[in-house]
Amino acid sequence: MALYTKESKDRVRDAVDFLELVSARTELRRAGPARYEGLCPFHDERTPSFGIDPAQKVYYCFGCQASGDVFTFVQETEGVDFKEALELLAERSGVELTLEAEDPREAERRKRRERLLELLSRTADYYQRYLWESREAERARAYLAERGLEEEILREFRVGYSPSAWDKLLIASRRGGFSNREIYDVGLAQRSKQNGQIYDRFRSRIMFPLADVRGRVLGFGARASRADQQPKYLNTSDNDVYHKGLHLYGADLARAHAARAGTVILCEGYTDVIALHQAGMRNAVGLMGTALTSEQVGELARMAQTVLLALDADTAGQEAMLRASSLAARRNLELRVVALPPGADPAELIAHGGAEAIAAAVEKSVPFVRFRVEKALADGDSDSPEGRDRTLAQLRPVFATLPPSAMRMELTRIVAGRLSLPESLAEQLLAQSDRPARGTASAQGERRPARAEPSAPREARAAVGGLRREETERTFLALCIASPEEGERALAALEPGDHFSGALTRRAAQHLLAGDLRAPMHPSSGNGGADPEHDPELRALLAELVVEAGGLEPHPAMLEVQSLQLELARIDRSIQRARASAGVDVSDLATRRGRVKHDFDEAYARVLEETGAG
Ligand code: UTP
Ligand code: MN
Repeated sequence: MALYTKESKDRVRDAVDFLELVSARTELRRAGPARYEGLCPFHDERTPSFGIDPAQKVYYCFGCQASGDVFTFVQETEGVDFKEALELLAERSGVELTLEAEDPREAERRKRRERLLELLSRTADYYQRYLWESREAERARAYLAERGLEEEILREFRVGYSPSAWDKLLIASRRGGFSNREIYDVGLAQRSKQNGQIYDRFRSRIMFPLADVRGRVLGFGARASRADQQPKYLNTSDNDVYHKGLHLYGADLARAHAARAGTVILCEGYTDVIALHQAGMRNAVGLMGTALTSEQVGELARMAQTVLLALDADTAGQEAMLRASSLAARRNLELRVVALPPGADPAELIAHGGAEAIAAAVEKSVPFVRFRVEKALADGDSDSPEGRDRTLAQLRPVFATLPPSAMRMELTRIVAGRLSLPESLAEQLLAQSDRPARGTASAQGERRPARAEPSAPREARAAVGGLRREETERTFLALCIASPEEGERALAALEPGDHFSGALTRRAAQHLLAGDLRAPMHPSSGNGGADPEHDPELRALLAELVVEAGGLEPHPAMLEVQSLQLELARIDRSIQRARASAGVDVSDLATRRGRVKHDFDEAYARVLEETGAG
């Protein structure tokens, strides 16, 4: 993929009206000299915790910690990748993009990749024609029809059939100008151990092209067409273009629908996806013969906010769900479970009950945590006291992930009812935990903001522990951005390595010191080694600081207080270190501390006076 120049990306950013762009998604109102705020477009909330700085063109949500710039905003809200977001914004704002001049080796690699993709796409066409036109595919056509899959939807998914001969595809590809090497490298041929010759890898199989989100065919899933064929599915192995576990089946066709619906349905099989699309659930995607990977969860999160898990009711499917929930907990993803009849997959449910059956199942989807609770209750033995205790023990870790909420109450009520316990006792027993409950990360797959109270984000973070001191450092940096002139002086008087105890706040201080407080998101030319361009953590912190600063009135006296506080903390650390290495005299440090404390108290009194709070 050829790249656009950094310069044209900057021109697009400059041309975009960020306030207008965001306002199309959520209503914003002014909330400070350089801040607008509103309800977060990335999570459900009733009081605004989402803010933007329209000039710096960054956003940050104090509730769900979503943050970014004009490009990530379009990526996230429209479900597109970076390149597409750039192209979209360029088009909308009338900016012409310029392509980067490529280095020759890079150009070589890109050309080779384009040829391989071309070969794969032609092959998909070849198999597709073969399915609909050849005599030997007649059985496959009948089989697909019998399963209720119609030609129109099969054509949309480019489903095909591979000839039974050993060399039909080889010959056709060679005729198209492709080398043995290329055919072998994309996994369409394999080498005979006897004579070293290559021959068609896929024979007499129903072919499902595997595409990336942009619809480019990268490989194939190939289903047996006879009972004696093993394995049932033969998939393209990892090669230069296809990497297992990076993609979701049908993502190219489902993406726009998922973005619009706000939900994406995840199922296991290729035929499930096709049957769902045919039944009008066009937001369905599938795993592709692997356990769910974190890349796939990332892909799901880009497609929609809510994932409906329509996985088989067998153990593998259940495990996939647990895996999904622990992967989703780290993202702003809501998981719901679509319960399927035992032993049935979505394709079978549709084949037997029609589109209405699957629509009803989807309609009745339940939050993942509720599913886990009901499953533990259903699996457990509620007759004996021991059985009930075992069930409670199973449920405890589930409840440990649940914040106090209406949901928690409801589930407690269900458990109490099912185990014949008074509600108050059930509540007590479910709350006992052998491990301290973790404050933030959870395995329940509910959205994060349910836990981080938007009105008190700072307190919530501080409660995580160990972050108190970093709060002072963050506040100081935000104040520097809010009054850049004084901020520059205050920052220059400090030594990031000494005055900032957190690794991340230290990088931010280095970056701001070397760069421009009026444009904190821009890369700094300085040496500090901190570069937001390649440091997502730093980028997120800077976005937060900018949005925080946008809501602050410039306040030089407050800046002084904060900077004296950083100095106090630095001295305290030095004293601690000195005490730790016995025999070192700390009296000089103590004297200095006294002086700084005095200045601090005076400055603080001034602030109280100025703000009328004293
Ligand atoms: P299933 O065995 O449930 O197949 O495997 P299916 O998709 O329902 O196929 P039909 O309906 O019987 O035709 C689910 C998925 O697991 C992967 C494939 O992606 C398949 O769609 N799989 C299964 C493999 O990769 N290899 C196998 O041998 C079996
Ligand atoms: Mn299946």
